[in-house]
Amino acid sequence: MDWQQIGLIEDIPRQGSRVVRTSSGEIALFRSVDDKVFALNNKCPHKGGPLSQGIVHGNRVTCPLHNWVIDLESGVAVAPDVGCAHRHEVRVAHGVVFLEVKAGACKAA
Ligand code: FES
Repeated sequence: MDWQQIGLIEDIPRQGSRVVRTSSGEIALFRSVDDKVFALNNKCPHKGGPLSQGIVHGNRVTCPLHNWVIDLESGVAVAPDVGCAHRHEVRVAHGVVFLEVKAGACKAA
């Protein structure tokens, strides 16, 4: 596994996000109100909207462009919409966020 140290969980606002630029493109790190951290490509499966600018609610984010709702754990769009954003593994150790960047397509696509 190739884990990259990203920074502190405190650098990601609760119910917000932070964008990390990688060789695989922009990845949005989301932090839920209960401090879970998720990572998805910063591209909505609908028309590529910036998910990082969406509203985080529970373990989901609503895209700012046309309001698709994306599950942050899986990257899958909530029905009736269909599609998914590629997700990446994240872990948090002692307040430090690590990200495993892997290129590839969404598993549910
Ligand atoms: S681009 Fe995200 S809902 Fe349309």
